[in-house]
Amino acid sequence: MNATEIATVKAEALAEAQGAADAAALEAVRIKWLGRSGQLPAIMKTLGTLVPDERREAGRVANELKNELTTALDERKAAFEAATARTSASAFDATLPGRWRALGSLHPITQVIERATAIFRTMGFTVATGPDIETVFNNFTALNTPESHPSRSPSDTFYLKDDQILRTQTSPVQIRVMLNQKPPIRIIAPGRCYRRDTTDATHSANFHQIEGLYVDRQVSLADLKGDVSHFAKQMMGPDVKVRFRPHFFPFTEPSVEYDFSCHVCGGKGCRVCKHSGWIEISGAGLVNPRVFEQVGIDANAWQGYAFGMGVERIAMILFGIGDIRNLYENDARFLAQFG
Ligand code: DAH
Repeated sequence: MNATEIATVKAEALAEAQGAADAAALEAVRIKWLGRSGQLPAIMKTLGTLVPDERREAGRVANELKNELTTALDERKAAFEAATARTSASAFDATLPGRWRALGSLHPITQVIERATAIFRTMGFTVATGPDIETVFNNFTALNTPESHPSRSPSDTFYLKDDQILRTQTSPVQIRVMLNQKPPIRIIAPGRCYRRDTTDATHSANFHQIEGLYVDRQVSLADLKGDVSHFAKQMMGPDVKVRFRPHFFPFTEPSVEYDFSCHVCGGKGCRVCKHSGWIEISGAGLVNPRVFEQVGIDANAWQGYAFGMGVERIAMILFGIGDIRNLYENDARFLAQFG
């Protein structure tokens, strides 16, 4: 290669060094040109074929190529290193404002369950659990629900198999506890329930209940009223009123439903309480002796009360939520209000 040819190649090599995008690309350029089996040693080998004058001139340009390329590579390498240093720890600026990170918060349903659980713990209750997938026996039969009862129908209940359903209530946890534990018993069982309901402002195909069961030698409706009223005041505040109405459930006798006065309007009537001033919270009653029979507890020796409260109902009046669907859509703007 003569001097002119080497000068052309030199320009090419310098351009490659300038164009390298990062340190790795730069190193590749160095190896390509200056490496032991690179372009420059190959050029040097061709010089021997030139006449002495031309060889001297070509040797000079080849040397320039080596020196200028080395300088260009070194400069660019330094520039890359400086850029890395700027973004690393040595460039830490303690005066910059901190980075804001959005904090999550507990879902209103979880908040209600945790608060209710804490209140019942102070009243001597412990927490029992059961699976979402239940047997027909635990969910219906042992709870004295007749074969013909409409709630057993596949249009009301999700069946997985003939004898396997998604529980429609937390009441089957009562059965599980009484089959495994001797009285006295004092448990609550918060959990998720499933029904084939069409979703609207107050219904959802899955929802939560807190079951309660108290079994002892002497238990009366007065105990139920006293305990529920105490819970209501702890949960909603001292001004809440509780109203008991006669009702029917197969697993309690007598049975009641109870309402809390609406926390949103203070009982005057609003959208959340459908202008009645009251919100239906729970079914309850004294444990039916037929249920005791199913689980082998002597109904002559033991009595009990039970209740099953709607968690969504409590959440709605506690937080003033008008539509149950808000609780399930997981809109972050909605949930952020309950942090
Ligand atoms: N399981 C009933 C329901 O979902 C609520 C209920 C009523 C639970 C009376 C009870 C009870 O424990 O005693 O409608």
